[in-house]
Amino acid sequence: MENASNKTMELFGLSGKVAIVTGAAGQLGGCYVRTLLEAGAFVAALDVRLESPKSKLKNITSDRLLSIEVDINDKGALEKGIDTILSRFGDPNILINNAAIDTPPNSDEQDTGPFETYPESSWQIMMDVNLKGTFFACQVIGGHMAKSGGGNIINISSLYGILSPDQRIYEYKEKPFFKPVAYSVSKSGVLNLTRYLATYWAKKNVRVNTLTLGGVFNSQDEVFLKNYSHKIPLGRMANEDEYNGAILFLASDASSYMTGANLIIDGGYSCW
Ligand SMILES: NC(=O)c1ccc[n+]([C@@H]2O[C@H](COP(=O)([O-])OP(=O)(O)OC[C@H]3O[C@@H](n4cnc5c(N)ncnc54)[C@H](O)[C@@H]3O)[C@@H](O)[C@H]2O)c1
Repeated sequence: MENASNKTMELFGLSGKVAIVTGAAGQLGGCYVRTLLEAGAFVAALDVRLESPKSKLKNITSDRLLSIEVDINDKGALEKGIDTILSRFGDPNILINNAAIDTPPNSDEQDTGPFETYPESSWQIMMDVNLKGTFFACQVIGGHMAKSGGGNIINISSLYGILSPDQRIYEYKEKPFFKPVAYSVSKSGVLNLTRYLATYWAKKNVRVNTLTLGGVFNSQDEVFLKNYSHKIPLGRMANEDEYNGAILFLASDASSYMTGANLIIDGGYSCW
């Protein structure tokens, strides 16, 4: 009988596969890049700010890693990016649409103010990056996969894309703070982009799934941590490396019969 652990390694392994991660320099993008490299993939790390002092790519070195500065909101830049990837690694097999913007707690007051006065410009920026950028990456990279025999796309959404934020957890803040509407709406859009493409490309052997994440610990203030954790059956935010297993599952043949689905990992938040 074949060694079980070798079979398992094969099931989850990505040896020789070509993966593309957008937003790769961010907190979670860096974790995904490391995980994909460890599983044997060639990885193209795309980000609009590769050189940011906080870049999570800084400590990752591999001759299977290619970092490219790309704004996903610029279709021409994505097209150039894929040309570079093709000439260096060949046809892409995996795309993780991870790049997005959120509204940090120290944002402009209007951005975190009441819905009624939420700025149109903030709505536009959020839609441009989180939704249009994901759409462009699917068009350019997914389109190439559909032409070249198949592939696998993972679109990253958020709990706030399937549920409304509970604004009560922000009531302790000195100034009124509302988790803004545009992030939620943009992340909901990702869910149906996934379903649309899963059916559209099924015959072309391109699988498309959403990975929906709960909040990640990132040195948030203590009151926020207490309020947020109170809503989670597991009693805490996720650690940044706790989505790597799901990435490996969705990116590999372990999920070969899965398309159009939404895998929710949230410590149980959405159960009650
Ligand atoms: N961190 C969380 O608590 C959390 C929770 C749920 C979902 N998510 C989702 O996970 C993903 C990653 O989140 P994160 O916390 O690592 O965010 P992050 O801000 O640390 O990283 C996002 C990265 O995207 C890049 N980016 C922004 N605009 C871009 C553009 N136009 N083109 C290319 N790159 C661009 C940024 O430079 C940054 O490196 C996002 O889609 C986010 O919505 C995060």
